[in-house]
Order: sequence, then structure tokens, then C-alpha cells
Amino acid sequence: MKKLNGKIKHNIAVFISGRGSNLKSIINYSSKRRTLYRVKVVISNKQKAAGLLIAKKKGIKSYYIDLTKSKKLGNKVLNILNKNNIKLVCLAGFMKILPKYFIKLYKGKIINIHPSLLPKYKGLNTHKRVIENNEKYTGCTVHYVNNFLDSGKIIFQRKVKITQKDNKRSVEKKVLKIEHKIYPKTIDKVLSNL
Ligand code: GAR
Repeated sequence: MKKLNGKIKHNIAVFISGRGSNLKSIINYSSKRRTLYRVKVVISNKQKAAGLLIAKKKGIKSYYIDLTKSKKLGNKVLNILNKNNIKLVCLAGFMKILPKYFIKLYKGKIINIHPSLLPKYKGLNTHKRVIENNEKYTGCTVHYVNNFLDSGKIIFQRKVKITQKDNKRSVEKKVLKIEHKIYPKTIDKVLSNL
């Protein structure tokens, strides 16, 4: 914990695999508002993830480590989290399954955002499946991470309406817009209960 602008901040880590638009919204929210967190570390399992550049530009320590590849790499990440006194790990477009030992060590301290109204549409290609099934609503969910894919306890969800004009891309855009709104606020909520 560190005092920033007279307020106690918890250190969080964000795990990414790609674009990093959620990462950006999480960072921006904490620089504009009185949040309970600051992004201390960003870890990507992909070397070329655009999100790594976002972190660098903001002066946040960032690492390319695919912790799912070996226990040695997993331990390397655990050391980084320990050293930086990380209170919460936030998966933001992290497209790999975390190893069980990792989830056990950080039990109740890893959350994820998923672009559907869980428990519906777990896994990949959510928007395509939602459109194919003529759903009237979709949305996004922030949930705790457990050993089963997109199945941990739900913390917060928000719905969006799908109209006849929508397609996969427009739904993705709508959902992403609400992801950016709800994820930073939910991180604060989770930290306030830790
Ligand atoms: C987001 O829509 C996020 O919900 C999704 O990947 C996208 C990442 O975008 N995550 C998953 O599907 C995880 N199962 P971003 O890199 O721009 O934040």
C-alpha cells in the first residue's frame, strides 16, 4: 500500500494478451479519480501485445512472461507480484487459463472481465454466438477466477440491448464501451471489501 495524493492506494497487477483497451481505461480511471488502486505491474503472455506499449507510455513496469508455459515462469511472475506488494490481479483480455497452483495462491484475489452475460457464452467468440442465436441482450461480467473457465463467482454484470441493425462488430463495440466503464469501478469495489 502506498499513500498517493493523501489517499491509501492498493497495488494491482493487470494481465493482458493483446490490445489493452481495458488496461487503458483502468489506468486512466485511477489517474483521474480517487480510486483505491494504482496499476503497479502489467504482465503480458504475448510479446507483441499492444497493451505493453500503453503501460510503458504510462511509466508502469511491464513484462512479457508467459507464466502458463512453465512453473519456472509462473514463479517468476509470483516473485514480481510479491515484490510489488500486489493485492489484486485483474485479467483484462488475458486469453490463457491460469495454472491451478497460481489460482490457489491468489485465491479470491484474481478477477476477470468477460464479454457476455455469464453464465451464458463462456469461452471464445462470444459476440458471434450471441448474434447467431438472435439474443435480444448481451453484456459483460466481472467475476472471480476459479479453476473452471469463466465460472467463478459473479461480482458485477451490465446488460446491453441488441437491435436488428447490430452485427458482431457493433455488438463488440457496445460491449467494450461498457467494459471500460464497469471494470475500474468494480476493481475499486472489490478492493474496498478485501
Ligand atoms: C475484452 O472484450 C475482454 O472482455 C475479452 O477480451 C477483450 C480484450 O480487449 N476477454 C475475454 O474474452 C476473456 N475471456 P482489450 O485487450 O482491448 O481489453
